[in-house]
Amino acid sequence: MPESRSPSIARRLPPSEATGRWTGARHGLAKTYGPSDLIVLGIGVMIGAGIFSLAGRQAATMAGPGVILSFMIAGITSLLVAFCIAELSSAMPASGSAYTFTYVIFGEVWAWAVGWALVMELLLAAAVVARAWSLYAAQMLADLGVRIPEPLSGVIGQVEGFDLFTLVILVLLTGVVALGARIGLRTLWIIVVAKLAAIGAVIVVGALHFDEGNLAAIPAPTAPIKASEGFLDSPLLGLVFGQTTAFGWFGIFAASATITFAYIGFDVVATAAEEAEDAPRSIPKGIIRSLVVTTVVYIVVAAVMVGMASYEKIDASAPLASAFRQAGEGFMVHVINAGAVLGLTTVVLVLLVGLTRVVFSMARDGLFPRPLAKINRSYHSPSRATLVIGGAAILLAEFVPVLTLEPLVVIGALFTFLAVAAGVIRMRRTLPDLPRGFRAPLSPYVPIASILATLWLMVNLQVVTWLYFIAWMAFGVLVYLAYGRRKSVLAGGQPPLEPPVGLRGRHRR
Ligand code: ALA
Repeated sequence: MPESRSPSIARRLPPSEATGRWTGARHGLAKTYGPSDLIVLGIGVMIGAGIFSLAGRQAATMAGPGVILSFMIAGITSLLVAFCIAELSSAMPASGSAYTFTYVIFGEVWAWAVGWALVMELLLAAAVVARAWSLYAAQMLADLGVRIPEPLSGVIGQVEGFDLFTLVILVLLTGVVALGARIGLRTLWIIVVAKLAAIGAVIVVGALHFDEGNLAAIPAPTAPIKASEGFLDSPLLGLVFGQTTAFGWFGIFAASATITFAYIGFDVVATAAEEAEDAPRSIPKGIIRSLVVTTVVYIVVAAVMVGMASYEKIDASAPLASAFRQAGEGFMVHVINAGAVLGLTTVVLVLLVGLTRVVFSMARDGLFPRPLAKINRSYHSPSRATLVIGGAAILLAEFVPVLTLEPLVVIGALFTFLAVAAGVIRMRRTLPDLPRGFRAPLSPYVPIASILATLWLMVNLQVVTWLYFIAWMAFGVLVYLAYGRRKSVLAGGQPPLEPPVGLRGRHRR
């Protein structure tokens, strides 16, 4: 290894290590995804709890009809970052995505920090969405008049504590991911089409009840933000500008930070790079196209929802359903329930796939234990990493009140966005000749705008979210010092992995 034995702060992955993973020169995964699969992957992972639960909750408690603006702010920020991720993944199509880009551009210590943040983001997101899945599945049964027998009623559709449905969905999807991307891919296509059909029905029926009067004005600031979301203190922004409030412009910005959760997933498409055909071109297209479709869907659904019912009458615990009930379209409740159950299924599925790829990459580089980089010869997937991740997601979802930790998912993602945008600026200078299938437009203005927009969303998050995040990252530093610093392949801690015989270069579609 060219940089072995150098101090960890100076260790950088040679670009050929990152590009070689896609071309087949390195230990990697087989090709599975065509260009359209990547768009489905993006839509599959993005459209979920963000639109089915979060949009209405933020409208009711934080932004009123201004939630449409919140979706636009978070959407534009995501698009700016997407251009940056697209450029880096077109140059380095490796399944570690932001982790691997950072390894090449900034070095091992920063790469570990980004990888550690990605692990938190994706693991927590999978646990949060699995919980939300259980709530929707239980609601669906209740709305269909199915009575859950007494001994089970206390362990199904629970916000906290042991929950049977959460366990079942995570076990099932972990199994699907462990058995290989191909089985998951077929399921994904079918479910994504069904989810889009349900959302199409929401838009069409909702538009029939659209009343401009409900969008009249941004509600005036009211209660201090303190009371919202179960968090105990005001957003960081309040430290600079004084007491912040729900509603008004503060409310809209605070909602846009929370709503970033809805866009999480476009970054996950980049983790499919090693398994994508023609990745330098197909991955950027997959990221940007799926994000554009999702942004349009979100803005239209949010507009329809707050146009149908006054935000004051939206029930924060079942927002879309309450809007349709008020409009006298009770049957739509079943469509929404079915759409949410299907939609959230694909979100958890793709989050688990993405996280598996990140952990696999970090283990391949020696920063996580090596067995996690093992590729199962029958299923051609990192099955061992999948089982460990599935187990961790189950423990987290069952024993931690994850639904209150949603903003932690957001801050983890925003941190990785900063690294990616800074990476584009730096790579243009340090690796100008590295071939790229895509270039972010108007560089360095787009990456700089990405950084500023991301920082703005970050300061709109709650102080307690920052504290949890700092604690997680500090724990990560200890893990790195205890393990990765010594075991890293670049440090000479262990030998690099060779491509598994008979696996590389085979197209299995
Ligand atoms: N964007 C995904 C969702 O909203 C995580 O569920």
